[in-house]
This record gives sequence, C-alpha cells and structure tokens, in this order.
Amino acid sequence: MAFREYKIGTRLFGVALGGSMMITLYFPTIDMTSVQATEVALRKALSAGRQNGFAYEDPFVTGEGKPVTVVLRKDPVTGEKMEPMEAYVFPPGTPFPSAIRHPRTLGSGVKELSLQQGRIGEADESRGAVFYVDHATYQGEKLAYIVNATAIKGWQPEQVLASVPEEDKKYIGTGKTLFVREQCWWCHTLLPEQTQDWQYFGVPPRLGDFNSEGPTAFGSDRKAPDLLHVASRNSSREWMLMHFFNPRLVQPHSIMPRFDYLWDEVDANGNKIDYAAWRKAYEEYEEGKRIYPPEVPEPHPDSRIRKLVDFILSLK
Ligand code: HEC
Repeated sequence: MAFREYKIGTRLFGVALGGSMMITLYFPTIDMTSVQATEVALRKALSAGRQNGFAYEDPFVTGEGKPVTVVLRKDPVTGEKMEPMEAYVFPPGTPFPSAIRHPRTLGSGVKELSLQQGRIGEADESRGAVFYVDHATYQGEKLAYIVNATAIKGWQPEQVLASVPEEDKKYIGTGKTLFVREQCWWCHTLLPEQTQDWQYFGVPPRLGDFNSEGPTAFGSDRKAPDLLHVASRNSSREWMLMHFFNPRLVQPHSIMPRFDYLWDEVDANGNKIDYAAWRKAYEEYEEGKRIYPPEVPEPHPDSRIRKLVDFILSLK
C-alpha cells in the first residue's frame, strides 16, 4: 500500500511523457503544405522577393536585390493596350523568393498549377524573369497561381521595366525590408486580431496568406495602429510623406519618431536637403513665430522613403 502513490505518479508521468513524445513525433508528419497559398501570399512573395530580414545577399538589410512591382497598362512586347495588371519584375541576378525556388511551400494545388500552367520551373535567376498571378480551377477549387511571363509570353525583365513609366513602378520589396530594418514593428503590428479590431483595422489574415513568407514581420506588442490594411483607410501619399518626415505635422501628439533621414541626400530636383534649416523653421512654427510649418521636400525617386511609402501604400 505504501507505494501506491508512487505507482500512480509513475503512471501519470508515463502518460505525460508518452503524450509529449507522440506530439513531438506526430507533429512533423502533419503536412503543413496541405494549406494552399492564397492570392495574398503569392503577391506578397513576388513583390517582396527573397527574404526580408537578414540574408547573405543583403547583410546590412538595406533592401538590395529586390524585384520591382509594376502596373502594366499595355503589352510590353506588342504595345497593345490592356486591362491594368500587376507584374513582378526580377532583373537578371535578383534572388527568387522561396515561392519560386521551393514551390512545395505553396500547397499541392497551387504548386501543380504554377509548375504546369505557369511554368515557373523554367525561370532562371541569372537571366531574370517576369511573373504575374492568374487563377484557375484545380479539383473543383478556384486557386490563384504564379505565371512565368518570360517563358509563356516572352516578356524580358529589362523590356518590361523600360515600357513602364516611373510612377507605375513600386519598390515594395525594398520597402518591406526597410520596414524591418527601421523597426517599425516595435510599435506597429501587421496582424489585426479577431476582436473589435475588425471594425477599424480590417479583417485578420488567413492561414494561407503566409505560405513561403519569411519573416512575416507581424510584430507582437502593439503600441500603434495595425498597418495590415492601412492603405485602405488612408491612401494619401501626401499625408504619408508629411507624417514620415515629422509625425507631429499631422498628429500633434504622436509618439512616432520622425523618419526624415530616409529622404537621403537630395530631393526630387536634385537639390541638397538642408535638414538643419528645416528643423529651425519647424521650431519657429512650434513657437508661434510662423503661421505654417516648412514644406516637406518631394522625395527623390531613388530615396529610401519612396520605397517605404511604396510598401506602406501596398498594404490594402
Ligand atoms: C515609437 C513607436 C512607433 C514607431 C517606431 C513607428 N510608429 Fe508609426 N505610428 C505610431 C503611433 C503612436 C501612430 C499613431 C499616431 C500617428 O498617426 O502618428 C503611428 C501611425 C502610423 C501610421 C498611420 C496609421 C494609420 O492608422 O493611419 C503609419 C502609416 C505608420 N505609423 C507607419 C510607420 C512606419 C512605416 C514606421 C517605421 C519606419 C513606424 N510607423 C514606426 C508609433 C510608431
């Protein structure tokens, strides 16, 4: 009798250990890739390019080697007008995202469609490629899949870039890297939750929205508004530029730091930006010595802020 408690204890321990071993052994056999990538996941992967945190290709996380997202309004080969569509241009040598390198991560149906109908297996990093997203029915289910436009339509990266005006080029991949590098995620999340969040921040993402994405950058500790759908409630580029240059220009009590240094050296006209003069004028404004704050410089197309805003305004 004296050992009864020990026997029960030993059995319970056995059950607990056995149970955790089962979980450890069984979990990896669950096929995570049975989740089909959604259209959101495909567009994220193609606009972001390979990895957006630390990568050997970009050790200082500056957003180099990223694809360009373009809005096509005419066929880049024939020049014929067409319904505006988004395409993702990878100039030669631009690393492909894991969605192209490891199509298995897309889920079985999206993988089949992308490989067979989209011919993504023929894409070659060293020669570059252009991709877009299309839809098809696979075993009764309507799925989005990736199309290799270089293999199917003969679209070459340089040719597509040359056919698109500057305002239709979006540096979303570089912008997302800057979002990680500038640590916007300390304050902002990219993950509305299934609570009252819905009403203001919009719908939470779906499981398949994350296939092949890394890092997700959804943050953890929210001190500021969720940004997953920010461009749906505020799509003003002008507001964004003022807010990034100095958030107090548009939100007097904002705790967000200013990101004026992302304007880099020169403005859109190639004139050097005089930050000291700007701040002096701003201080005068705060002290009531000026009626209007100084104007925010128009960013140079190559500046980092242009790319960050491209990313933020892509969050719809
Ligand atoms: C110290 C915390 C903090 C950091 C870091 C921060 N923000 Fe903010 N951000 C805020 C707060 C607070 C607000 C809400 C008040 C306001 O609009 O300024 C805000 C507002 C915004 C908005 C407007 C949101 C809306 O609902 O309209 C955007 C866009 C934004 N931030 C982007 C960024 C980006 C991009 C970065 C990184 C480059 C960043 N923020 C870094 C705190 C932060």
